[in-house]
Parts: sequence; C-alpha cells; structure tokens
Amino acid sequence: MEFTYKLPTDITFGPGSINAIPEKVKEVGANHAFVVTDKGVKAAGILDKILKLLDEAQIKATVFDKLEKEPTVLSIGDATKELAKSGAQVAIGVGGGTSMDTAKAAAFLVTNGGGILDYVGVEKVKKPGLPVIAVPTTAGTGSELTRFIVFTGVDVRTKLTVGSYLAMAKYAILDPELTLTLPPKVTAGTGMDALTHAIESYVNTTAHHVSEPLAMRAIELVAKSLRKAVAKGTNLQAREDMLAASALAAMAFNSTRLGIVHAMSQPAGGHFDIPHGISNAIMLPPVMEYNLMGNIEKYIDIAVAFGEDIEGLTPMEAAAKSVKAIRDLMEDIGITERLGDFGVKDSDLDMLADEALTSGNVPLNPRFPSKADIIEIYKKAL
Ligand SMILES: [Fe+2]
Repeated sequence: MEFTYKLPTDITFGPGSINAIPEKVKEVGANHAFVVTDKGVKAAGILDKILKLLDEAQIKATVFDKLEKEPTVLSIGDATKELAKSGAQVAIGVGGGTSMDTAKAAAFLVTNGGGILDYVGVEKVKKPGLPVIAVPTTAGTGSELTRFIVFTGVDVRTKLTVGSYLAMAKYAILDPELTLTLPPKVTAGTGMDALTHAIESYVNTTAHHVSEPLAMRAIELVAKSLRKAVAKGTNLQAREDMLAASALAAMAFNSTRLGIVHAMSQPAGGHFDIPHGISNAIMLPPVMEYNLMGNIEKYIDIAVAFGEDIEGLTPMEAAAKSVKAIRDLMEDIGITERLGDFGVKDSDLDMLADEALTSGNVPLNPRFPSKADIIEIYKKAL
C-alpha cells in the first residue's frame, strides 16, 4: 500500500462555532469578506447572524446570493466577477455544496484567471486562491473538507468536476446548530450522500490506513444517528453526529475518491434533475450488491457497523447483510424513490451508462464494470 494524505483545512467544530468566523477572517489579514449563500440560508436567519458577527468585528461584507439549485458555469462566472469587483480578500461559503463549491471556485478563479471549464479534471489549478471559510448548513456533501467542485456545463446537463488541493477551504466551521432546521427529507437525502461517500471510500481500491478509520467512523455515526436526525430535527446530538459523519467521510474520500455509485448517480441526477443525495441513495443498494464479491471483508465490516447479526453466515451472506442494512435504513427515513419516478426510461440507460463510464471513479471501484453491467445495475434502480 502506498498513499499520501493531505488536509490543508483547519476545522472548528461545535455548537456556536460560527462565532469563530470573524477571528478566522482576521487571521488571514482580511477586513472585507465575500459571502456566498442561498435563499434557504437567508430564510433560516443564518446569513443575518453571520453578517451581524462580521459587522460587530468591523469586517465589511459583500453578499452574493444569486445561486441556482446547483453551481453552473454561468453562476460561477458571475460569482467570480462579483468577488473581483468587491475587492474582498476572503470568501465565505455558507450553505450546502452549492454555496461552498461556488465560494471555492470563485476564490481560486480570481487569482488564477480563466473560467471554471479550464480547470476540469484533477490538480489543474496552478496558484493558491483567496482564503475560503466553508460553513456547511447541511450534513452530507462534505464540500467544506474536499478539493472537489461539482457543477453543470452550459448547454449540457452533464456534471463536471474540478479537483484541486489549491481549491480547498482554509477553514471549515462545523456548527451543528445550523443544521437543526433542515427538513426531514433534506436530512435524509444529504445523510445518504455522506453515507455513500463513506462506503465508497471504505471499499474502493485506493482505501488506506488513514482513510479507512475515517470512513468507518462516518459509517458508524450514520448508523447511530441518521434515523434520529430525521425523526426529530432538533436532536442536537444526532445533528452533531451527522455533521461529524459528513466531515469524516469527506476527509476519507478527498484522498481516495469514490466509486460507481457516484459515477452512475451524477449523470442520472444531472439529466433528470434528481437531488444528489437521493440519486446516490437509489443507486447505493444495487451497486453494493454488484460490488460485494470485490471486497467481501469490507462489506462484512459495514454490516457489523449497522448492527447486523452475521453469526453462522458464510462470508458472502454476511457481506450481503450490509445491503439489507442500507435498505432498512432507507425505508425508515422515507427514501422510497426509484429512477423511474424522475422520468428515467429504459431507453435512457445506454446514454447514462456511456456517461457513467467516463467518470474517474470507475477504475477505483472494487469491481470493474462493463457497460452491460452498468446498464444492468441501472435497471435494478429503475
Ligand atoms: Fe456526493
């Protein structure tokens, strides 16, 4: 086994940790912050809280809240122009993956020049960007601790990815109180995204001595607390566990990358407008079933983490219990959708499979899929 592990992000965790934002702005010598956020964060009163904290510390703020559901080439271009025009020396991304990814993208584009499409792929960014403070208000994407920025192209529905350690946030502020008002459906979907990150990282071929315990702890925390967070959003302990799970999973997959759940869910989600967490959740059980024999021991670990009884079972039977555990969880948290519910038809699967196979996550998957395999897995999710 050979690996490198880098984490250039300082983490501040705990209820009330947003109070540390002004101190982080000052740490990088800035007196003007560019705050990227969305309407939901505004409506929840979180933006006002942060603006008040900045104002009290005599830090000027420029707000950018013209975000679509997900980052696009155009919205990232707008944010970059506005950031440059504002003269702010630090970007703060407050929200889900969209706000944080847009802040990360604008911050590196301002110093590197060009547009986001020039950097698609891995490690193409040349210079450090402006410092970014990432403040997640959902527990799932892990964007606060990853080098990845996911966005959609101009005329196509294809999702594109930029991955660079130079595009990572300098600070991650993990305040579970910000997630207390998330509705159950969003909690369930984003939680399944975090779980998918953890499972894909844990079983893939690049998993290593640092990533494995991070991913496994994330799986354990989701097993312990996702149901509770969906059942009662104000359960602070459950929210804390889920925010930690999301962050730990991100710290794992930032290094190892993912697998074919993400390779398959991104084209489906992009073309058929499926929320990212939901499309992952739909793909996760059939992909696990397909992958089991590629990494039997790891799937047994996952079954055990979910409290499944594996006594007296053969290794493959025990590994299969992990799939049962995920299906039970999804039923309890109310994720019952199938791809067909979003308009995906049998005749779309050939196109989706072609797109899925272009993903850099395919070679890292524990089992190497043919196009026919991918189509077969999609069929099970229809
Ligand atoms: Fe994801």
